[in-house]
Amino acid sequence: MEVFSKFATPGLLFALTLVFGFWLSHAGKPYNGLLFNAHKLIALGCVVFLGIQFSKNLQASDWQLIVLLAISALCVIALFASGALMSAGKLEYGLMLTIHRIAPVILVADLGLVIFLLKPGG
Ligand code: HEM
Repeated sequence: MEVFSKFATPGLLFALTLVFGFWLSHAGKPYNGLLFNAHKLIALGCVVFLGIQFSKNLQASDWQLIVLLAISALCVIALFASGALMSAGKLEYGLMLTIHRIAPVILVADLGLVIFLLKPGG
């Protein structure tokens, strides 16, 4: 339970990122600048808080965790890259949106497992 409480702030920021993501999507194109920046910056804040918590709670020998974290890092990179490319109108929009929709699902499942594997109180 203690482990989960440490991730309350990034969890809340992640939920807000999703809310702003769907709102931004729903508002249509051209993207609303305020919603776009809020979505992007909250996502960035979420990643920063997650990084801080993981750096405090991880041990270098936990190789399963390292593999899972590498997968989550790839998801985050995919989200930031696809988001930026959608807003810039570069590459195929449909493909970028699909990546942007699938990556959060993988990310949540992956990080859920990471948090579950973290030692309580560690
Ligand atoms: C943790 C990181 C992020 C998550 C979990 C996330 C999640 C989402 C979700 C769920 C949507 C709604 C998609 C839909 O309509 O089905 C969305 C939309 C969007 N996001 Fe993100 N996002 C993240 C980061 C970013 C970043 C960093 C950017 C920009 C650099 C970005 C740009 C966009 C854009 C442009 C849309 C609107 C897509 C459209 O419907 O045309 N996102 N995001």
